[in-house]
Amino acid sequence: MTTLSLSSSAPLRARADALVVALFAGDAGAPIPVVPELASLAPAAALAGATGKAGEVTAIPAPDGVAAARVIAVGLGAQAELTGERVRRAAGAVSRAAAGLRRVVSTLGLADGTALKAAAEGHLLGGYAFAGYSDPAKQPVEQVVLAVGKVDRVARQALHVAVVTAEAVALARDLVNTAPNDLPPAVFADRAAAAARAAGLRVQVLDDKALARGGYGGILGVGSGSTRPPRLVRISYKPARPSAAVALVGKGITFDSGGISIKPAAGMDHMTSDMAGAAAVVATVIAASALGLSVAVTATVPMAENLPSGSSYRPGDVLRHRGGKSVHVLNTDAEGRLILADAIVRACEDKPDYLLETSTLTGAQVVALGNRTMGVMGTPELRDRVAELAREVGEGGWAMPLPEELREGLDSPLADIANVSGDRAGGMLVAGHYLSEFVAEGVAWAHLDVAGPAFNTGKAYGYTGPGGTGVPVRTLLAVLADLAAR
Ligand code: BES
Ligand code: MN
Ligand code: ZN
Repeated sequence: MTTLSLSSSAPLRARADALVVALFAGDAGAPIPVVPELASLAPAAALAGATGKAGEVTAIPAPDGVAAARVIAVGLGAQAELTGERVRRAAGAVSRAAAGLRRVVSTLGLADGTALKAAAEGHLLGGYAFAGYSDPAKQPVEQVVLAVGKVDRVARQALHVAVVTAEAVALARDLVNTAPNDLPPAVFADRAAAAARAAGLRVQVLDDKALARGGYGGILGVGSGSTRPPRLVRISYKPARPSAAVALVGKGITFDSGGISIKPAAGMDHMTSDMAGAAAVVATVIAASALGLSVAVTATVPMAENLPSGSSYRPGDVLRHRGGKSVHVLNTDAEGRLILADAIVRACEDKPDYLLETSTLTGAQVVALGNRTMGVMGTPELRDRVAELAREVGEGGWAMPLPEELREGLDSPLADIANVSGDRAGGMLVAGHYLSEFVAEGVAWAHLDVAGPAFNTGKAYGYTGPGGTGVPVRTLLAVLADLAAR
């Protein structure tokens, strides 16, 4: 990962491969450097075509008076419309453009009094590259020096929070970007456990025998088609005086072929991301501990591979969830809710105050909201707060209802509930209904469907590269911080 540092020295005199000049868009389409000392660079930036438009990146040979080798101008849009997300995206775009450079001095943290954390986060997120399978043409930018007015405690704390946050996002992205042949449930569990133990957290891993003893029929049923058996990982963080207890649950399907209800071949490779919810909650509980948030957090993470074979569960099977509810499986591709129901029941046995569950649960989420806006369902107050915080951190989220009339589609003549309803209407919401049946009475809960947002199959933009995005790690961290502050 890119290393960050702070400096209060004059940016014009900084020796670097690039000086990043943050620009506001002026009235007449003329760029206005955010830092008054860099006003002398405005004409060169304008000549090179820079306007200050949000997200616009323009590389310029360094004019006289600049010690750096080049200037990278980046737009923030109109000053009156500045948001943290604009700063984050600009920083991310600069870091992506600066790949291959060693030392970059950035003035984005000076955009306003609160921009430092967003600039730090954006530079780190935009500098992410998955190192797993091939050598990139260019290494991520090695070092970003953030220009600040004063290197004080507030600045150092902002930097620390940004680094912990970006490390959590990178862990989630690394796990999602690991190919499914390299991440069977047992390996995923080992990697999650190792990361959590290294952070000083308590870890428990249930293997398939322990899952059978514990009555986890959903996880076992879904995992039965693979030669690589399922797992349930539990990770706990307990600070001294927690203000609340929060359960996290994340879907960990290491590959979703659909099973016997097999998916079409086109795009099936994207189902490498079907463990993004699990990766996010693992990363989040570790980051909560690194930040010392005053909430107790336990992540309950079911992991299984959904494959067709002679030992697979089938449409028509009846499984029994932990806690006793029976489910009539009508479609083996609606597997996420089956492993999540078991995990939600287990999580609720701890009697948490809040339950946050996240999953790449339905294609219907993508149809309804697209690839950059998660759907949030649950108890109204928590649901609305989660959606609001998702937008604030730049992950994008929208509150969704659980219309009463959609519940009866899950009625089954054979079992307590069916895993799919007869028609496709409101598929994201029907899945939400299914999960709600397993949340204990009195627990405030939210379900974050990140089917689209967790994985970028398109071009890079802002601070988001291709592949795993780390969504919803930053939303979950914001919610935990919010609950800690109550
Ligand atoms: N993992 C998929 C959902 C998904 C789709 C995630 C696209 C990311 C991108 C999930 O297990 C699934 O297959 N859902 C089915 C549910 C249906 C059978 C009720 C779907 O959405 O088609
Ligand atoms: Mn599926
Ligand atoms: Zn799935």
